[in-house]
Amino acid sequence: LNKAVEDAKKLAAYAAVDYHVKDNQTVGIGSGSTIIHAVKRLAERVKAENLNILCVPTSSQARQLIHDNGLTVVDIKRHLEIDVAIDGADEVDSELNLIKGGGGCLTQEKIVASCAKSFIVIADYRKDSSALGEQWKKGIPVEVIPMAYVPVSRAIQSQFGGSADLRMAVSKAGPVVTDNGNFLLDWRFDQEHNWSAVNTTIKMMPGVVDTGLFINLAERVYFGMEDGTV
Ligand code: A5P
Repeated sequence: LNKAVEDAKKLAAYAAVDYHVKDNQTVGIGSGSTIIHAVKRLAERVKAENLNILCVPTSSQARQLIHDNGLTVVDIKRHLEIDVAIDGADEVDSELNLIKGGGGCLTQEKIVASCAKSFIVIADYRKDSSALGEQWKKGIPVEVIPMAYVPVSRAIQSQFGGSADLRMAVSKAGPVVTDNGNFLLDWRFDQEHNWSAVNTTIKMMPGVVDTGLFINLAERVYFGMEDGTV
Protein backbone atom coordinates (compact mmCIF):
# COMPACT_ATOMS: atom_id res chain seq x y z
CA LEU A 1 0.00 0.00 0.00
CA ASN A 2 2.70 2.51 0.96
CA LYS A 3 4.51 2.14 -2.33
CA ALA A 4 1.28 2.59 -4.30
CA VAL A 5 0.42 5.72 -2.32
CA GLU A 6 3.91 7.17 -2.68
CA ASP A 7 3.90 6.48 -6.42
CA ALA A 8 0.50 8.17 -6.70
CA LYS A 9 1.75 11.26 -4.87
CA LYS A 10 4.72 11.43 -7.19
CA LEU A 11 2.59 11.10 -10.33
CA ALA A 12 0.31 13.95 -9.25
CA ALA A 13 3.26 16.14 -8.27
CA TYR A 14 5.11 15.60 -11.53
CA ALA A 15 2.00 16.26 -13.61
CA ALA A 16 1.37 19.58 -11.85
CA VAL A 17 4.97 20.79 -12.08
CA ASP A 18 5.35 19.73 -15.71
CA TYR A 19 2.09 21.27 -16.86
CA HIS A 20 1.86 24.46 -14.80
CA VAL A 21 5.38 25.77 -14.15
CA LYS A 22 7.02 27.91 -16.82
CA ASP A 23 10.20 29.93 -17.02
CA ASN A 24 10.47 33.19 -15.03
CA GLN A 25 7.68 32.31 -12.64
CA THR A 26 7.23 32.74 -8.92
CA VAL A 27 5.88 29.49 -7.49
CA GLY A 28 4.17 28.95 -4.12
CA ILE A 29 5.40 25.80 -2.43
CA GLY A 30 2.99 23.99 -0.12
CA SER A 31 3.72 21.71 2.81
CA GLY A 32 3.38 18.03 3.58
CA SER A 33 4.66 14.82 2.01
CA THR A 34 3.29 15.16 -1.54
CA ILE A 35 4.96 18.51 -2.14
CA ILE A 36 8.36 16.87 -1.58
CA HIS A 37 7.97 15.19 -4.98
CA ALA A 38 6.94 18.46 -6.61
CA VAL A 39 9.99 20.31 -5.30
CA LYS A 40 12.28 17.50 -6.48
CA ARG A 41 10.73 17.64 -9.94
CA LEU A 42 10.95 21.44 -9.98
CA ALA A 43 14.64 21.26 -9.10
CA GLU A 44 15.22 18.74 -11.89
CA ARG A 45 13.50 20.98 -14.42
CA VAL A 46 15.29 24.12 -13.25
CA LYS A 47 18.60 22.35 -13.77
CA ALA A 48 17.79 20.62 -17.04
CA GLU A 49 16.00 23.56 -18.68
CA ASN A 50 17.98 26.32 -16.98
CA LEU A 51 14.79 27.94 -15.66
CA ASN A 52 14.58 31.07 -13.56
CA ILE A 53 12.13 30.17 -10.77
CA LEU A 54 11.51 31.86 -7.43
CA CYS A 55 9.83 29.88 -4.65
CA VAL A 56 7.56 31.23 -1.93
CA PRO A 57 7.36 28.81 1.04
CA THR A 58 4.25 28.08 3.12
CA SER A 59 6.05 26.72 6.18
CA SER A 60 9.45 26.18 7.71
CA GLN A 61 9.33 22.67 6.18
CA ALA A 62 8.77 24.16 2.71
CA ARG A 63 11.54 26.71 3.19
CA GLN A 64 13.95 23.93 4.14
CA LEU A 65 12.82 21.78 1.23
CA ILE A 66 13.33 24.58 -1.30
CA HIS A 67 16.72 25.29 0.16
CA ASP A 68 17.80 21.63 0.26
CA ASN A 69 16.89 21.23 -3.41
CA GLY A 70 19.01 24.17 -4.46
CA LEU A 71 16.05 26.37 -5.43
CA THR A 72 15.67 30.08 -4.67
CA VAL A 73 13.54 31.06 -1.67
CA VAL A 74 11.83 34.44 -1.73
CA ASP A 75 9.60 36.24 0.72
CA ILE A 76 5.95 36.94 0.00
CA LYS A 77 6.42 40.49 1.29
CA ARG A 78 8.57 41.23 -1.74
CA HIS A 79 7.09 38.76 -4.21
CA LEU A 80 3.34 39.18 -4.04
CA GLU A 81 2.86 38.18 -7.67
CA ILE A 82 2.72 34.41 -7.36
CA ASP A 83 2.07 32.81 -10.73
CA VAL A 84 1.14 29.39 -9.47
CA ALA A 85 0.94 27.81 -6.03
CA ILE A 86 1.16 24.03 -5.69
CA ASP A 87 0.14 22.23 -2.51
CA GLY A 88 -1.19 18.96 -1.15
CA ALA A 89 -4.51 18.48 0.64
CA ASP A 90 -5.97 16.16 3.24
CA GLU A 91 -9.24 15.79 1.39
CA VAL A 92 -10.90 17.18 -1.75
CA ASP A 93 -14.66 17.12 -2.35
CA SER A 94 -16.47 17.02 -5.69
CA GLU A 95 -16.56 20.85 -5.85
CA LEU A 96 -12.82 21.09 -5.19
CA ASN A 97 -13.31 22.34 -1.65
CA LEU A 98 -10.45 21.16 0.51
CA ILE A 99 -9.54 20.24 4.02
CA LYS A 100 -5.95 21.24 4.69
CA GLY A 101 -3.76 21.63 7.72
CA GLY A 102 -3.04 18.04 8.68
CA GLY A 103 0.54 19.30 8.78
CA GLY A 104 -0.46 22.42 10.69
CA CYS A 105 0.55 25.01 8.06
CA LEU A 106 -2.93 25.98 6.90
CA THR A 107 -2.70 29.71 7.56
CA GLN A 108 0.39 30.36 5.45
CA GLU A 109 -0.86 27.87 2.84
CA LYS A 110 -4.10 29.81 2.50
CA ILE A 111 -2.27 33.13 2.24
CA VAL A 112 -0.02 31.84 -0.53
CA ALA A 113 -2.89 30.10 -2.35
CA SER A 114 -4.99 33.26 -2.26
CA CYS A 115 -2.11 35.35 -3.64
CA ALA A 116 -1.54 32.97 -6.54
CA LYS A 117 -2.99 33.44 -10.01
CA SER A 118 -3.67 29.72 -9.99
CA PHE A 119 -3.75 27.27 -7.11
CA ILE A 120 -3.06 23.68 -8.09
CA VAL A 121 -3.57 20.77 -5.70
CA ILE A 122 -1.71 17.47 -5.83
CA ALA A 123 -2.87 14.37 -3.99
CA ASP A 124 -3.02 10.59 -4.04
CA TYR A 125 -6.26 8.72 -4.72
CA ARG A 126 -7.11 8.41 -1.00
CA LYS A 127 -7.88 12.13 -0.81
CA ASP A 128 -10.57 12.04 -3.51
CA SER A 129 -13.97 12.33 -1.86
CA SER A 130 -17.49 13.29 -2.82
CA ALA A 131 -18.21 15.04 0.50
CA LEU A 132 -15.79 16.32 3.14
CA GLY A 133 -15.30 13.89 6.01
CA GLU A 134 -15.88 10.77 3.94
CA GLN A 135 -12.19 9.96 3.71
CA TRP A 136 -10.42 12.27 6.14
CA LYS A 137 -11.34 11.33 9.70
CA LYS A 138 -9.09 13.70 11.63
CA GLY A 139 -11.38 16.69 11.33
CA ILE A 140 -10.99 20.26 10.14
CA PRO A 141 -7.95 22.01 11.61
CA VAL A 142 -8.45 25.49 13.08
CA GLU A 143 -5.45 27.61 14.07
CA VAL A 144 -6.12 29.62 17.23
CA ILE A 145 -4.04 31.91 19.38
CA PRO A 146 -3.17 29.92 22.51
CA MET A 147 -5.37 31.77 25.03
CA ALA A 148 -8.44 31.25 22.83
CA TYR A 149 -8.45 27.50 22.40
CA VAL A 150 -11.04 26.71 25.06
CA PRO A 151 -13.56 29.44 24.10
CA VAL A 152 -13.18 28.64 20.40
CA SER A 153 -13.52 24.91 20.96
CA ARG A 154 -16.72 25.48 22.99
CA ALA A 155 -18.14 27.89 20.42
CA ILE A 156 -17.53 25.48 17.52
CA GLN A 157 -19.06 22.55 19.42
CA SER A 158 -22.11 24.49 20.57
CA GLN A 159 -22.82 26.01 17.15
CA PHE A 160 -21.97 23.10 14.92
CA GLY A 161 -21.74 19.97 17.10
CA GLY A 162 -18.99 17.38 16.90
CA SER A 163 -15.84 17.80 18.95
CA ALA A 164 -13.01 20.29 18.57
CA ASP A 165 -9.93 19.06 20.36
CA LEU A 166 -6.54 20.58 20.99
CA ARG A 167 -3.95 18.85 18.80
CA MET A 168 -1.31 17.28 21.03
CA ALA A 169 2.29 16.74 20.03
CA VAL A 170 3.49 13.19 19.45
CA SER A 171 7.14 13.33 20.39
CA LYS A 172 6.91 16.01 23.08
CA ALA A 173 4.60 16.59 26.03
CA GLY A 174 1.97 19.25 25.36
CA PRO A 175 0.16 20.80 22.42
CA VAL A 176 1.42 21.19 18.86
CA VAL A 177 2.71 24.73 18.33
CA THR A 178 2.41 26.05 14.76
CA ASP A 179 5.10 27.95 12.84
CA ASN A 180 3.22 31.06 14.02
CA GLY A 181 3.38 30.13 17.72
CA ASN A 182 -0.29 29.17 17.85
CA PHE A 183 -2.33 26.08 18.75
CA LEU A 184 -4.52 23.88 16.57
CA LEU A 185 -7.99 22.53 17.18
CA ASP A 186 -9.12 19.54 15.12
CA TRP A 187 -12.86 19.74 14.69
CA ARG A 188 -14.42 16.33 14.06
CA PHE A 189 -17.83 17.25 12.71
CA ASP A 190 -20.70 14.80 12.85
CA GLN A 191 -22.84 15.97 9.94
CA GLU A 192 -22.57 17.72 6.58
CA HIS A 193 -22.55 21.50 6.65
CA ASN A 194 -22.58 24.46 4.33
CA TRP A 195 -18.79 24.72 4.40
CA SER A 196 -18.59 28.23 3.10
CA ALA A 197 -20.90 29.51 5.85
CA VAL A 198 -19.13 27.43 8.51
CA ASN A 199 -15.78 28.75 7.38
CA THR A 200 -16.95 32.35 7.65
CA THR A 201 -18.54 31.83 11.07
CA ILE A 202 -15.50 30.10 12.55
CA LYS A 203 -13.17 32.74 11.12
CA MET A 204 -15.20 35.41 12.92
CA MET A 205 -14.71 33.79 16.34
CA PRO A 206 -12.30 35.90 18.40
CA GLY A 207 -8.90 34.23 18.58
CA VAL A 208 -9.25 32.21 15.38
CA VAL A 209 -6.40 32.79 12.93
CA ASP A 210 -7.72 30.64 10.10
CA THR A 211 -9.40 27.36 9.26
CA GLY A 212 -8.28 24.43 7.14
CA LEU A 213 -11.34 24.82 4.90
CA PHE A 214 -10.20 26.00 1.47
CA ILE A 215 -13.38 27.01 -0.35
CA ASN A 216 -13.32 28.13 -3.98
CA LEU A 217 -9.55 28.36 -4.05
CA ALA A 218 -8.38 25.32 -5.99
CA GLU A 219 -8.37 25.76 -9.73
CA ARG A 220 -7.41 22.18 -10.51
CA VAL A 221 -6.61 19.01 -8.58
CA TYR A 222 -4.31 16.25 -9.80
CA PHE A 223 -4.96 12.84 -8.28
CA GLY A 224 -2.37 10.16 -8.72
CA MET A 225 -4.30 6.89 -9.10
CA GLU A 226 -3.49 3.35 -8.03
CA ASP A 227 -3.30 2.20 -11.66
CA GLY A 228 -0.57 4.70 -12.50
CA THR A 229 -2.77 7.25 -14.23
CA VAL A 230 -3.36 10.86 -13.18
C1 A5P B 1 -0.12 20.96 5.70
O1 A5P B 1 -0.54 21.89 6.61
C2 A5P B 1 -1.29 20.36 4.98
O2 A5P B 1 -2.25 21.26 4.54
C3 A5P B 1 -0.80 19.51 3.83
O3 A5P B 1 -0.75 20.23 2.65
C4 A5P B 1 -1.73 18.40 3.67
O4 A5P B 1 -1.86 17.84 4.92
C5 A5P B 1 -1.24 17.37 2.67
O5 A5P B 1 -0.18 16.66 3.16
P1 A5P B 1 0.34 15.33 2.50
O6 A5P B 1 0.85 15.72 1.16
O7 A5P B 1 1.42 14.86 3.41
O8 A5P B 1 -0.81 14.41 2.44
